Amino acid sequence: MSAGVLSLADVHKSYNVGTPVEAEVLHGIHLELAAGEFVALVGPSGSGKSTLLNVIGLLERPTSGRVSIQSEDATALDDAGLTRLRGRSLGFVFQFHHLIPAFTALENVMMPLVIERGRPDPEMRERAMGLLDAVGLSAAAGKKPAQLSGGMQQRVAIARALAVRPPLVLRFNEQHGSAFLIVTHDPRLAARCDRKIELVDGTIVGNAR
Ligand SMILES: Nc1ncnc2c1ncn2[C@@H]1O[C@H](COP(=O)(O)OP(=O)(O)OP(=O)(O)O)[C@@H](O)[C@H]1O
Ligand SMILES: [Mg+2]
Repeated sequence: MSAGVLSLADVHKSYNVGTPVEAEVLHGIHLELAAGEFVALVGPSGSGKSTLLNVIGLLERPTSGRVSIQSEDATALDDAGLTRLRGRSLGFVFQFHHLIPAFTALENVMMPLVIERGRPDPEMRERAMGLLDAVGLSAAAGKKPAQLSGGMQQRVAIARALAVRPPLVLRFNEQHGSAFLIVTHDPRLAARCDRKIELVDGTIVGNAR
């Protein structure tokens, strides 16, 4: 059985609620993602892609509707609960990778594990080294972000996003006006796209293989 990793039910999102400039940006989104899916989210500028990713990433609350991750209803959680669910279930890769400059590549990859478990241990170090190896960067483990190229920094950020074995990885790519939702139980990033979800003016207009 492939259990749903993510489920959105009738999600609406408005900005500036209760003010004269209130504007609804997402108009009732229904979306299901299954484990292992590799899904691209596309649509014109201003269609609501970043807003939708922020809602899915539990960075913003929907105005109404329900967001569930691994069957847990996120809309019922308080801020501390959201932070825990985010840390346990979501990996984030941003275009601007947000690596910590004072930490080495290895320490950056270990960071989500340290946050999850309290303090570093040898098993975490081993897992982080394995992930750096998987992105071709074992030789760069001891280097700080400033000593790495932009592409290498991105790969460190991908290794970091996979550190907690999250069921859902969200990739933000502002430059191309698009974002990728990568849903996987497999730490190796699949180099293919199974499905394309198309958003226009806050409504899903395409959802095809
Ligand atoms: N914090 C905010 N306050 C008010 N309006 C906002 C806010 N963030 C986004 N919007 C509005 O919501 C709409 C959707 O914006 P969003 O950033 O989600 O679009 P997008 O699809 O990511 O666009 P792009 O491809 O340009 O990145 C736009 O009309 C935008 O002006
Ligand atoms: Mg955007």
